[in-house]
Amino acid sequence: MKWNAELYDDKHAFVYQYGESVLELLDIKQGEQIIDLGCGTGHLTKQIKDHGAEVTGIDASAEMIEKAEKEFPGVDFKVADGANFHFNKAFDAVFSNAALHWMHKADDVIKCVYDSLKPGGRFVAEMGGKDNNKHMITATQQVLEKHGYKKLGERRPWYFPSLGEYTGKLEARGFRVTFAAHFDRPTLLHDGKQGVTKWLNMFGPAFFEGIPAVELKEILGEITDLLEPTYEKDGNLYADYKRLRFVAIKE
Ligand code: BEZ
Repeated sequence: MKWNAELYDDKHAFVYQYGESVLELLDIKQGEQIIDLGCGTGHLTKQIKDHGAEVTGIDASAEMIEKAEKEFPGVDFKVADGANFHFNKAFDAVFSNAALHWMHKADDVIKCVYDSLKPGGRFVAEMGGKDNNKHMITATQQVLEKHGYKKLGERRPWYFPSLGEYTGKLEARGFRVTFAAHFDRPTLLHDGKQGVTKWLNMFGPAFFEGIPAVELKEILGEITDLLEPTYEKDGNLYADYKRLRFVAIKE
C-alpha cells in the first residue's frame, strides 16, 4: 500500500500517541540495541533513542521512511520488509506498535524477529487483535454489497489474530510469552462526523479501488450513518479498536 505520510502525521497522530504506553512495557535500558519494526514516520523510534537506546527504525514504506528521516535526522531508519529482514548484529529488543496487523506473513515476521534477537532478547508489541474494528468492517461490507461491490468488501487489508493464534505462533518459534492481553480500546476519530471517512481513506483504500469519486462519497456517508449509533459518544465518534499486546522472550 502507498502511504500518505503527511496526512498520517497530521490526522492520525493517535497511532503513535497510544504507542507511548507500549513503550513503558518495553522498559528500555540505557545503551540497549533495539529495532522499531514498522516504525512509520518515526515518532516512537525517536522516543526510544531519547530513552538512551541505539535504535533502528524499519518500515516497508519508502514514503514513511523518507518522512521519518526528514523529521528526525539523527535517528537511524531503513526501508525493510517486516517478513524478510536481516541484520548482521543481534539486538536486545524488537518493538512494534500498530504495524504487525499489516504483515500477513506472521510466521515469517516472527522468524525474522527471533533471528534478530540475542538470547534473552524480547519482542514487545501491540497490534490490532481479533475483531478489531469489526463494526467498521461489517458496515463497509454491507454498504459495498448494497452498491454491487461484494468482491471489494471481501478484501482483507489487515490481519487481526486472536491472542491464542498469535501467541501460539510465537511459542512455536521458540519464544516464551510472559505477558499477553486482548482488550477493548475505543479510539477517537478526528474531525467529528468526517472521522469514519478520513480513517477509511487513510487506512482502508483497498476496499474502494476503482469506485467513482461521487459514488465513493455516497458510500462513505452511508457507512458513517450505519456506524453512528454504535460509534457516537458525547458528540464524538469512537472506533471499536481491540488491541493485542504481548511480551515474548527468546529463551
Ligand atoms: C489499528 O491500529 O488497529 C489499525 C490501524 C490501521 C488499520 C487497521 C488497524
